[in-house]
Amino acid sequence: MASRRGVSMSSTTDHAKDAPPEGIGTESPDYVEDPIRGQRLYDDAFRRVFEFLYSNHIAGDILEFGTYKGFSAALLARLLRDFGNRPRFRVVPSRRLWCFDSFEAFPTSPSAVDHTSYEVTYTGTWAPGAGSPPPGTAAAVHEMLTGMLGSERARVITGFYEQTLPKSLPRDPIALVHLDCDLYASSRYALETVLTTCDVAEGCVLLCDDYNCNRADENFGQRRAIREVIDDGGQFTRTDFFSYGWNARAFILHRRKAGAL
Ligand SMILES: C[S@@+](CC[C@H](N)C(=O)[O-])C[C@H]1O[C@@H](n2cnc3c(N)ncnc32)[C@H](O)[C@@H]1O
Repeated sequence: MASRRGVSMSSTTDHAKDAPPEGIGTESPDYVEDPIRGQRLYDDAFRRVFEFLYSNHIAGDILEFGTYKGFSAALLARLLRDFGNRPRFRVVPSRRLWCFDSFEAFPTSPSAVDHTSYEVTYTGTWAPGAGSPPPGTAAAVHEMLTGMLGSERARVITGFYEQTLPKSLPRDPIALVHLDCDLYASSRYALETVLTTCDVAEGCVLLCDDYNCNRADENFGQRRAIREVIDDGGQFTRTDFFSYGWNARAFILHRRKAGAL
């Protein structure tokens, strides 16, 4: 449906259609040495979010910022299929999964905040040129997700957010945002754009995969982005939901009410 807004979707014709790169849908970047632990941990966390969304009848699509080889996207797609088929949740309208990623190496961040962050200067994990997925990754992720959800419900939007978001975000309500794009500049831009332009549902869940990166320093990364976009007076407030893994934290979003106590 995004094509109604002139968006270009990645497809199997984008890249050579040889054997798909290894690790599509299975390789967890934060738990590479222990994939079983990564799988269990994310499955449990995401399942808890789906239980919350479906039990509260919170309708809306799922946005993922940061897809890489599709590990988290595959889990989200599996849960979408599972919960969508449960008879007692038939009242909740069917959801789509939107995955936004450049599928390229990290560029030089447009923000000086990232230039001095731990993950850029110390570990180098988010440094310019790092994190490049193998050729064919976008097409392989797209094929995996359409195989699981059908082409109408699986969207893979390829490109840097500054280029793709203005023309490709859905108009339908949003129930879940999975923010896993590491850099402060990317996190801030994606979050701010969604919260100011999308129809964000009351009770929408915000999953922050990189919340404790940068040694959990408030001045960097997602912690800083969330503080600036949400806590410093935006249209939404957040309540704590739960933490998962060493890295991530879930919040529930509420529209800020004028004059509320
Ligand atoms: C940690 S990875 C995502 C991991 C993924 N959720 C998984 O489960 O494997 C972070 C991703 O964010 C993407 N990213 C970061 N900043 C971006 C930007 N400004 N535009 C597009 N993609 C971006 C990177 O390309 C990278 O693939």
